[in-house]
Amino acid sequence: MYLLALPTTLTLLALTTATALPSPSTAKTPLPLLIWHGLGDRHDAEGLHSVGDLAKEIYPGTHVHYIRLDENGDNDRKETFFGNVSEQIGRVCEGIQNDEELWKASLAAAGGGKKGDELIVDAIGFSQGGQFLRGLLQRCEGLSFRTLITFGSQHNGIAAIKACGTWDLLCKGALALMKNNAWTEYVQSHVVPAQYYRTVNVSTGEASGEYLAHSSFLADVNNERDVKNQTYKERLVEGLKGKYVMYVFEEDTTVIPKETGWFDEVLFNKTKDGDDDEERIVVPLRERRMYKEDWLGLKVLDERGALVFRSHPGDHMQLDEEVLKGAFEEFLGPLDKGEEVEVEEDGDLDGDVDELVEGQNGEKVIFDCTRYRPSYLEGWCWEITHAWENWGGPWRSERVWKQGL
Ligand SMILES: *[C@@H]1O[C@H](CO)[C@@H](O)[C@H](O)[C@H]1NC(C)=O
Ligand SMILES: *[C@@H]1O[C@H](CO)[C@@H](O)[C@H](O)[C@H]1NC(C)=O
Ligand SMILES: *[C@@H]1O[C@H](CO)[C@@H](O)[C@H](O)[C@H]1NC(C)=O
Ligand SMILES: *[C@@H]1O[C@H](CO)[C@@H](O)[C@H](O)[C@H]1NC(C)=O
Repeated sequence: MYLLALPTTLTLLALTTATALPSPSTAKTPLPLLIWHGLGDRHDAEGLHSVGDLAKEIYPGTHVHYIRLDENGDNDRKETFFGNVSEQIGRVCEGIQNDEELWKASLAAAGGGKKGDELIVDAIGFSQGGQFLRGLLQRCEGLSFRTLITFGSQHNGIAAIKACGTWDLLCKGALALMKNNAWTEYVQSHVVPAQYYRTVNVSTGEASGEYLAHSSFLADVNNERDVKNQTYKERLVEGLKGKYVMYVFEEDTTVIPKETGWFDEVLFNKTKDGDDDEERIVVPLRERRMYKEDWLGLKVLDERGALVFRSHPGDHMQLDEEVLKGAFEEFLGPLDKGEEVEVEEDGDLDGDVDELVEGQNGEKVIFDCTRYRPSYLEGWCWEITHAWENWGGPWRSERVWKQGL
């Protein structure tokens, strides 16, 4: 399926005064940004804050919230290694639901509403922070993301843990506990990386029985067990309004396998002559059962054009300002900075569209009531007019809000 991205211009037609119309300036308020750091990092780290500062530079007024499990940076770092991930996510959920500043920033960006409505934000997760943010979205009532960007995350778990730095005693402690004990209840509730450790049965190409039986976080949050949690699927499909952007580091030597950042399954098959040689078979997400049977809603998201697979040269977390800047410009900022509309080559629209009609001059007029709209525009739909000189010619596209069909 070939998709064409149309440049669009946004026009907000005069709305009746009865609707709570935001002033143009509030409508341009950027969404607040949640940032969840990775293993061994801390919420008050300078490098982390330079990411938030960059977002503020691009979109002045951005409220940045650094997710933390403890105000004290040392303890916050400790909790990236030790703790019960489900309990940690529960705490983060409670924290942001009660965060007045975050609500204020979110409502300002949405152009109205009150605390207790929908808390809409953008979110960036580094490494394990990426899958934890997704878990948060799936489990935290009332929370929604316009954009979720994950850098080098382990959405499909890790098959091995890389050795720790010589002096990293916390890391070594975690690793020592996991060794040969990863599936015990104690480790599954106390060692963070163990809770997204995942093994595969090479002969079936599916998750191993041990993992399904004992994984306390990942198997649950990825809906891999026989009984699926519909809430997870609903929250992911409905709670994610825009794009789910997944970056994989091409030369990642820390995350094994690196393709987990795209939900790919990697089978390590020992070769005949034994030893340490193994064949590496990568099964992309779209070929996997979890996608085809849509356990989690990833297929729905993909068909909506919401899944964005990106790669970046370099090893784990070797990010430069350029890539961050590009991603921020593309995916963050105010809600109404203009959305791309994807149209197939033959003119059919991708995704759910309520009505497509031919205009008088051959232009296509689309009524789309399914796209995300801020709460003050409930019951309104996009009317998108596409016109072009002739096929393949330059697009002209215009969108306006119209009250529901
Ligand atoms: C981990 O935390 C969750 C949520 O608080 C709780 O339901 C679960 O029992 C905890 N696991 C263990 C083994 O303590
Ligand atoms: C499904 O997930 C939701 C959100 O975390 C939770 O409240 C609910 O108990 C889960 N249902 C089952 C059957 O586990
Ligand atoms: C892998 O799956 C097969 C088929 O279900 C099973 O017979 C075998 O015991 C499994 N291997 C492991 C290591 O669990
Ligand atoms: C793994 O390797 C064996 C031979 O060493 C082969 O028969 C088998 O098909 C391979 N498994 C997969 C999933 O390719």
